[in-house]
Amino acid sequence: MTDHNRWGKFMIVVTGATGNVGRPLVQALAAAGEQVTAVSRGVLGVAVPEGVRHRQVDLAAAESLRPVFDGADAVFLHDGGAAVQLLNPQGILDVAKAGGVRRVVLLSSQGVATRPQSFSHGRMGLSIEDAIRRSGMDWTILRPGGFASNTFAWAETIRTQRTAAAPFGDTGLPFIDPADIGEVAAAALHENGHAGQVYELTGPALITPRQRAEAIGDALGEPIRFIEQTRDEARAQMLQFMPEPVVETTLDIIGEPTPAEQRISPDVERVLGRAPGAFAAWAERSAAAFR
Ligand SMILES: NC(=O)c1ccc[n+]([C@@H]2O[C@H](COP(=O)([O-])OP(=O)(O)OC[C@H]3O[C@@H](n4cnc5c(N)ncnc54)[C@H](OP(=O)(O)O)[C@@H]3O)[C@@H](O)[C@H]2O)c1
Repeated sequence: MTDHNRWGKFMIVVTGATGNVGRPLVQALAAAGEQVTAVSRGVLGVAVPEGVRHRQVDLAAAESLRPVFDGADAVFLHDGGAAVQLLNPQGILDVAKAGGVRRVVLLSSQGVATRPQSFSHGRMGLSIEDAIRRSGMDWTILRPGGFASNTFAWAETIRTQRTAAAPFGDTGLPFIDPADIGEVAAAALHENGHAGQVYELTGPALITPRQRAEAIGDALGEPIRFIEQTRDEARAQMLQFMPEPVVETTLDIIGEPTPAEQRISPDVERVLGRAPGAFAAWAERSAAAFR
């Protein structure tokens, strides 16, 4: 994709546009002067930046994306945060190609490489990556590790009791700021040179649950009491909102990460020319959710 369209801009469709990754991605593309179609089922919730139009479409109904893709150059494909297989990635790719899309950037997951036996964290993601590789479009795959924004799970107990409960309090993972994922995605969507690349995306350092609680306390200017859960206590809590296999693999990753899951990847810096943001900076920016 070397030329711009008739408006002198790329037309880029961003799915998952109101999420942790999608919001900064839309902002980055709009700031770069591209034309963006932001897709989600709900409303955008914030003022639409110049150059952005919002469309309420359900990704599960691939055919309803047809008008969205008409005349588009590139798409950011997000699984909606739900079960990927429900979203019919092949159907979405077919409709995108029919509309003229030549470039696709997929939000996948590090688990595709590190947990290949797990259905939820590995095999499901690999099947959508395979569809992207076979699509005939220029593709880039993003494989992030755990998101800093997973910490929003503590928002209510921090707001109401100034406590944060988690298992494996001293086991670190290199949590990534989702805004960095958005910026890498923006680069892959509107710059050349990213086709055929698989980027593993992590933050700049290992950070433990206890350190995350401390960082939020620092951002609030008040201490947060960290409560270490047993694996069983954490499982019981997580089963209230996640299916059992997802819970077990998640507990394996946060409790006994592999060396690959604790590795600090150079890929954010390779793409953006700067180091990934620290967890403390994410906590500062996100403090309002914990106040
Ligand atoms: N969290 C992690 O640690 C982690 C690690 C590795 C990879 N990932 C990947 O990142 C994803 C989460 O990204 P995120 O945090 O940006 O997600 P998020 O904040 O939960 O946002 C989800 C977005 O998708 C939209 N959406 C959901 N279902 C949809 C549907 N059926 N049709 C159209 N739009 C839909 C949502 O808007 P509406 O609800 O309004 O439709 C929202 O814009 C995960 O699913 C996984 O693939 C996450």
